[in-house]
Amino acid sequence: SLVDRLFGMRQLEKQLASYFGIDKCLIADGDSDQQRKVISSFGRLLNEALDAKLPEKSNIIAVMGGTTMAMAAEELRSLETDRRHNLFVPARGGIGESVNVQANSVSAVMAMKSHGDYRSLFVPEQLSSTTYDSLLQEPSIKEVLNLIGQANCVIHGIGRALHMAARRKMPETDILMLKQKHAVAESFGYFFNEQGEIIYKIPRIGLQLKDIQHIPYVFAVAGGRGKAKAIRAYMQNAPKQTWLITDEAAANEILKGV
Ligand code: F6P
Repeated sequence: SLVDRLFGMRQLEKQLASYFGIDKCLIADGDSDQQRKVISSFGRLLNEALDAKLPEKSNIIAVMGGTTMAMAAEELRSLETDRRHNLFVPARGGIGESVNVQANSVSAVMAMKSHGDYRSLFVPEQLSSTTYDSLLQEPSIKEVLNLIGQANCVIHGIGRALHMAARRKMPETDILMLKQKHAVAESFGYFFNEQGEIIYKIPRIGLQLKDIQHIPYVFAVAGGRGKAKAIRAYMQNAPKQTWLITDEAAANEILKGV
C-alpha cells in the first residue's frame, strides 16, 4: 500500500542519514538516471525543506550550477513571507559550465520562482592574473563577493569527477592527475577521492569549502544510481548540517552491503 511505501521510504531516509551521520535525507521515488522527472521531485523536496528551515529574516542563499540544480530550480514556489526575504547569489565564479546551467542562471531562476531577489557574478573564464586581480577590485564584483561571504544557506550539486572534468574541458594533464589520484566526486569545483578527501581544487573566487562548515543551512541535491559512488565519497566528509536530497536508486546503491 501507499502507506507502507511511504513508511519504507522514511526508513530509507533515516538509514541513509545515519550512515552519513547527518541530520536528514530526503529521498524521491525512482532513479533520476532513468527518469528526468525524478529531478523535478528533488526540486519539490528542496522547496519544502527551504520553506521549513529558512528563518524569518533576510537570508542570503548561495547556489551552485549543474543540470540537477537547473531543473530543481524550476520547482521552487514562493518562499517569501512578511518577515522572510531571500537573496540568491552564485556560490562561485566561472567554473566552466554552459550558460543555462551556470550558477548565475540557477540563482536567477530560483529567485524568480520563489519571488526573491538575485545578484549575478560575472567573471570570465580565461583571464590573465593581472586582469583577474583588477577585476576583483571592481566595486560591483566586490559587492557580490561580499554578499556571498554573508550567505547563511548553500544549495549545491554533486557530480562524478571524470565526467565533470570532461564537461568542463579540463586539460589532459589535469585529467591524468585526477585519474592517478583516484578522483571519484566533484562538488563546488573541488575533487574528492573515495575516502572523501580533497585531492584537487579549481582556484576560483567565491565560497570555499571551508566556509561551508560554518553555514547553518546546507542542501546537497544529487541522485541517480550512476552517481552513488560520487555521492558517498562527498557526503561522508560533508558538513554535518548538510541535508541530502537524493533518489531511491542512489540510496539503495549507497547502502548496498552495509
Ligand atoms: O559545475 C557545478 C556543479 O554543481 C558541480 O559542482 C557538480 O559536480 C555538478 O555541477 C553536478 O552537475 P549535474 O547535476 O549536471 O550532474
